[in-house]
Amino acid sequence: MMRFDAAYFDRQVERRGTLCEKWDGLGRSYGNPDALPMWVADMDIPCPPAVVEALKARVEHGIFGYTMECPEDRQSVVDFLAARHAWHVEPESLVWSPSVLSTLKVAIQLFTEPGDGVIVQPPIYPPFLSIPESLGRRRVLNPLRRTEDGWKMDLENLEDCLRDGAKALMLCSPHNPVGRVWSREELEQLVALLRRYDAKLIADEIHHDLIMPGHTQTSVMTLGVEDMAIVGISATKTFNLAGLEFSTAVIPDAGLRQRFIQTMQAYGSCAGNLLSRMAQRTAYQQGIPWLEGLLAYLDDARRMLREVLERDFPGVEMSDLQGTYLAWLDFTAYTQDPQRLWQWAAQAGVAVGKGHEFMGPGFARFNLACPHAQLLESLDRLHAALPQLRESR
Ligand SMILES: Cc1ncc(COP(=O)(O)O)c(C=O)c1O
Repeated sequence: MMRFDAAYFDRQVERRGTLCEKWDGLGRSYGNPDALPMWVADMDIPCPPAVVEALKARVEHGIFGYTMECPEDRQSVVDFLAARHAWHVEPESLVWSPSVLSTLKVAIQLFTEPGDGVIVQPPIYPPFLSIPESLGRRRVLNPLRRTEDGWKMDLENLEDCLRDGAKALMLCSPHNPVGRVWSREELEQLVALLRRYDAKLIADEIHHDLIMPGHTQTSVMTLGVEDMAIVGISATKTFNLAGLEFSTAVIPDAGLRQRFIQTMQAYGSCAGNLLSRMAQRTAYQQGIPWLEGLLAYLDDARRMLREVLERDFPGVEMSDLQGTYLAWLDFTAYTQDPQRLWQWAAQAGVAVGKGHEFMGPGFARFNLACPHAQLLESLDRLHAALPQLRESR
């Protein structure tokens, strides 16, 4: 039986030369092909070995003709959600979708009309900022509030947005990039407010399995929102399968689900393929020991990062990382110039997520899902270059 301990996750696997955006895209996006990539939200960690074995066996067969849905596909999601989240869904509530972003886009088209306001809460994963307008909707900003107690949703301002007629909210839960795992109480307040104004909820819960000890993820779908919400989840984030492009929308309401499927089909969307479905099924069925090892490893990474920042990076603050493997680092004491921070880091040999793209100038998003040695090396490089960032203030 394989042990998913620190020694397992410490192994560095070469990704250069595999058409990997995170490594092979460094020159194009950061001007430094030799930087350590702490940007794109995938992991420098191989997926569960059971997934590789299943895919290998299937690929060996050599025939990839027209295929059918495996009856276990749905049950594997149902069982996983019950086991990991005590979230009970009916198999027929699940709709396959090529990606969570596709789910969000189709949901906006179902729930709103051209010209309607769609609320997003920055700082936020950049596609949220462009999706509403790309679909002819109005983007309405409800920025998160930074308090002594961490990042919060601004429910007062949200109510103003709803009073002004916004029709839907795109929720990121847990929130990329600030790392909040929204509490049940916070989500209940949000839902009550949306319901009062008859607004819809489009929830991206793609990071829902990546929860740090001491925090509990609540899916909005467990809060009685079946008639007004669509949720997107995906094994691709949890198990590092993003290149296989597959995901699940959870839509218990039969009428809504039918309309969702029709819209997807109208765009000719065909979700998943033989291999991506197999990867998802195998990961959900056999990946839990790997996931538990990963979460322990990420928790150690989170602790290491906090310690190094406190020791070596005076004035740099890290948001409380409750969920996701993406730390949100505040360098505003050094610079608030949108370009300066990532350029400085890239010159130092580290590619950090560009805060301004999330509407957080002076912040860096920092991906911890890599071997600890890579994490520590990237911090060493930044530390060595810190005097230059300080001088440029
Ligand atoms: C919050 C969030 N949503 C969606 C995605 C992309 O998911 P997909 O590839 O399924 O569209 C990401 C990827 O980083 C993400 O962080």
